[in-house]
Amino acid sequence: MKNLNFKQGLLFLVSLVFMTTSCKPKNANNTISADAAAKVYVAPGKYDEFYNFVSGGFSGQMSAYGLPSGRLLRVIPVFSVDPEKGYGFSEETKPMLNTSHGFVPWDDLHHVQLSKTNGDYDGKWVFGNANNTPRVARIDLKTFRTAEIIELPNSAGNHSSPFLTENTEYVVAGTRFSVPPDDVNGDVPINTYKKNFKGTLSFISVKKEDGKMELAFQIECPGFNFDLSRAGKGVSHGWFFFSCYNTEQANTLLEVNASQKDKDFILAVNWKKAEEYLKAGKGKKKTVRYAHNTYNEKTHTATSEIKTEVIVLDSKELKDLCYFIPCPKSPHGCDVSPTGEYIVGSGKLAAVIPVFGFDKMLKTIQAKDFIGSFEGIPVLKYESVLYGEVKKPGLGPLHTEFDNKGNAYTSFFVSSEVVKWNIKDLKVLDRASTYYSVGHLTVAGGDTKNPNGKYLVAYNKITKDRYLPTGPELSQSAQLFDISGDKMQLILDFPTIGEPHYAQIAPADLIKNNSTKFYKLDENKHKYASIGEGTTKVVREGKTVHVYMTAIRSHFSPDNIEGIRLGDDVYFHVTNLEQDWDVPHGFGIKGAANAELLIMPGETQTLKWTPDRVGMVPIYCTDFCSALHQEMQGYVRVSPAGSKVPLSYSLGTNMPKEVGEEKQALKGKDKK
Ligand code: CUA
Repeated sequence: MKNLNFKQGLLFLVSLVFMTTSCKPKNANNTISADAAAKVYVAPGKYDEFYNFVSGGFSGQMSAYGLPSGRLLRVIPVFSVDPEKGYGFSEETKPMLNTSHGFVPWDDLHHVQLSKTNGDYDGKWVFGNANNTPRVARIDLKTFRTAEIIELPNSAGNHSSPFLTENTEYVVAGTRFSVPPDDVNGDVPINTYKKNFKGTLSFISVKKEDGKMELAFQIECPGFNFDLSRAGKGVSHGWFFFSCYNTEQANTLLEVNASQKDKDFILAVNWKKAEEYLKAGKGKKKTVRYAHNTYNEKTHTATSEIKTEVIVLDSKELKDLCYFIPCPKSPHGCDVSPTGEYIVGSGKLAAVIPVFGFDKMLKTIQAKDFIGSFEGIPVLKYESVLYGEVKKPGLGPLHTEFDNKGNAYTSFFVSSEVVKWNIKDLKVLDRASTYYSVGHLTVAGGDTKNPNGKYLVAYNKITKDRYLPTGPELSQSAQLFDISGDKMQLILDFPTIGEPHYAQIAPADLIKNNSTKFYKLDENKHKYASIGEGTTKVVREGKTVHVYMTAIRSHFSPDNIEGIRLGDDVYFHVTNLEQDWDVPHGFGIKGAANAELLIMPGETQTLKWTPDRVGMVPIYCTDFCSALHQEMQGYVRVSPAGSKVPLSYSLGTNMPKEVGEEKQALKGKDKK
């Protein structure tokens, strides 16, 4: 504290209070009404009404839960390897995790966004962000698999991402860390932040038919921390709003130094204007490097391409592109009401929730009612853009979502509660305690034009005593509220994977009937596919051996392989010949520095194995596929380097020799 002035010291104290009080709500007790169990009960054999797509935080994955039951349905591997599914371990999926830094096996997935048409979920895709090595992923909701990942240049800490426009025209990403742009020398003193560091906003276009992403353009902005963002919708379609903190442009001890100003900013971006500038050739081509990875469902193989160029628009030079709206104290959430008329800023350290009017913003811009400018971007007058403030809402507001009755729900980290308030008169209507310290919340359809408004889930950072203890690390927690009545009603706790940040809730009907049941064998275009057992073989190419293998209940073909030598790299290309729903086969081999393969019906996946010793190596199916699953096995014989054992493979023909015959055979072999 030596170098801090009084105000800084005070703020430091405030932040300490933050840390020590951010646990249990006052008067914490379990007020569960008698009908809660009935409300969340989904009878055996019945489906949930909603899918809940939940970010996995530092697990790097996304998970799908059913609501209202809170049942975990699937962990979708996105940015982290997943040995359970072979993701990032099979040769086909490794390219999905390629970046300009090479293969990156982990990330930190914070936010999910369901694709939209006309401002409502369309059930096609769900997007997720990589917060550490900046990337955006698109998951196909037909297969619940990651279909595409695009890396973001000029970015670091991709937090304000992946937020979508109302027709999924763009997935937008704002950088959390400002950094020197990739095409200039980043080897500069850290304290030249104000001069050398820039904040970049990325606009990724999404093709309507197939979801294919392209990095359309970037906007270079002043060096701040971009935190969260939301697209305008309805009346405000064409605009994007980003919360910014650290407008102090501090580069050290941000907990104090980035909390100096009374107001930071919400950045309003006119992206239709950006498109005009782009068309008019006002963008500058910059040399960068970023990976663009795509999974092809026909070849069952991912490819990774390194791209080297991006078009950047300069917010300083291009007029009418960006405006700053002052927003009290380190805004986190920046949420837009269903009609698009209101923009809600949630300042983590603010005592009020400011609600801005979109029409007021336009009028303020028109009247040039500016209080100044920041690095060439006009700063609008707070009072002129403000629709009103929610007074005494709670402590530490973070995020706001909306229902279908004109109400907003804001999460409060410090006071551990969800607060319901009316968008028009800004009056607080209800409060519900969370257990404990809620971060994100989501309402079913809560960021769409037509929220469902039946359920709200709070995603809490601290669990404490909610579940049976599991050692020092406790599962993080989601809490389901029924919000259909005047009062919010807590009806269920359920634990989550990793750390949940943002999540979204979509009606099951939108997604469940489109689910892929299996891949068609006759459409399998994998280079090493074996369509039928008759095409299986083992081929040596120098020290590389390709095993063209099939799996069907309940054997592999071939299941006996001899003639593998130490020093070989062996690729098992296993095609699952099943053409039925829910019959994956697995593939594991003893001692492989690898995960299993989990191969869906009709699919081909490849496991690379480098034998490390001479001997007999078993293979087996890892997924219980039939009553004879335990019979689904085989052997690979490994001989020394330079061995003369011929390469052979078989299924059902290499019968056991009698002991006597074996001696004969060995004698014969010794003769050479
Ligand atoms: Cu195939 Cu078990």
